[in-house]
Amino acid sequence: MTFALNRRAALAALGAAAAGATGFGQAAQPPDAWRSSYTPHNGPLKAALDSGPLRIEGRWPATLQGTLYRVGPARRELGGVSMNHWFDGDGMLQAFRFEGGRVSHRGALLATPKLQAEEAAGRLLYSGFAQTLPHSPPLSGPDTVNPANINLLSLPASRALFALWDAGSALAVDPDSLQAKGFKVWSPDTQGAPFSAHPRVAPDGTVWSFGYMPGTGSLLLYEISPHGQLRRQQVIPAPQADMVHDFAITERHLVFLLMPLKYSGTPGTGNPLSHYRWEGQSPLVVLLVDKADFKVQRFELPATGVFHLANAWEQGGTVQVRFVAQPDILGAMQKMDVNHSHSNAKTRATQWTQITLTPATGQAQMQALGLDQVEFPRIHPARNGLRTQFTTLLARSREMNARVDGFDSVLTLHGGQQQRHRYGDGWIAEEHVYVPRTPTAPDGKGWVLGTAYHWPSERTALSVFDAAAVNAGPVANVTLPYGLPLGLHGQFVAA
Ligand SMILES: [Fe+2]
Repeated sequence: MTFALNRRAALAALGAAAAGATGFGQAAQPPDAWRSSYTPHNGPLKAALDSGPLRIEGRWPATLQGTLYRVGPARRELGGVSMNHWFDGDGMLQAFRFEGGRVSHRGALLATPKLQAEEAAGRLLYSGFAQTLPHSPPLSGPDTVNPANINLLSLPASRALFALWDAGSALAVDPDSLQAKGFKVWSPDTQGAPFSAHPRVAPDGTVWSFGYMPGTGSLLLYEISPHGQLRRQQVIPAPQADMVHDFAITERHLVFLLMPLKYSGTPGTGNPLSHYRWEGQSPLVVLLVDKADFKVQRFELPATGVFHLANAWEQGGTVQVRFVAQPDILGAMQKMDVNHSHSNAKTRATQWTQITLTPATGQAQMQALGLDQVEFPRIHPARNGLRTQFTTLLARSREMNARVDGFDSVLTLHGGQQQRHRYGDGWIAEEHVYVPRTPTAPDGKGWVLGTAYHWPSERTALSVFDAAAVNAGPVANVTLPYGLPLGLHGQFVAA
């Protein structure tokens, strides 16, 4: 199988269908109005936000120095044309910097070709993942509509930073100015091909990634050196790989969970979301790919949906996988409308789940671990593929307003111990990351760091917790003089 053939098919399918971003939108607005005091999506491109030094409440850990970068869909409206789905919106990059006892924030919309074309036209032009715009111009490829709005990849060895979408190229950005520097070309063959929003960085710095290509029955795999040189690319057959948002690595394998969410669209007609169907009689297909030769072993489990995996590792002849199951993933995506609050008690039910694969026998088992209404799992950034004891997640408490989508709590799991902090009424928590105290510190020794939006006051706050004592609440926090658009994922880059 040559990649060129698949690439053409993929680009045709993706491009004509305006591509399918599959990030996870975590929140709709509270009753009446969710709005940010800074609304870059409601007008022409504005200058970058810059908070200057922020007042720190509590004691900022002296050794926690670096930058928390976050990204998410921000601008959703231009020239009277609006996009209303959580996955649609031009990416805005946020940088929270911690240096010498000072904390500051800077934020900027990413000047992608899409954003620049729409700025020039004075209105939104292109159909999105969940919304069809009439007279949407033809696309030369997915990157024509790449909003770079889901996640970030940092390569510390070359001080490179990329803003990621699901269905197109990684966008290089300047880590200081936050300016877009153009789409990354890993190789001539993969130029413009999909690059996942969830690459995995192995402990040795190797970057593993993939691209999914709806309707093609294949996945494109990438192995990239710590300095950003492509080592290998490979297309593998992958039935029902029509929406694959995340994956996991182990020391020997790549692990893909392929849910029975099938794309049956005719390229060029409607938006991608309208072309997805849930086929619950089909299994959850697990592909275990040998890193050495890309040989694939296939397992089957009862159907469920998935956005995010936490981690996977080899253990005593088995492969252990931890992930968040989202049984009604299509229903959840169909309701992620920024203009309509809704009760999400059923559609957003998620389950912290374990899979055990036994390659020698071909057996696979899946078990719910008794923790519901969680998402955004994060682990030790240098332990991808190694056994981890510590995970941080967002959780939704019973007290959270049923008309408000999303999460109000941060939760940590450490072995069998669970701790959580609820931000309180009026708060929407965003993804929290785990930052180890030192690169070699034992798993769970460090900080949990994340943002939350307080919608009654329209302010965004950043909090830092002792990872071993999240129950005790933040050890320090800062409140911005403005509210940020709710974002998706972030990465901490140490100073
Ligand atoms: Fe994600």
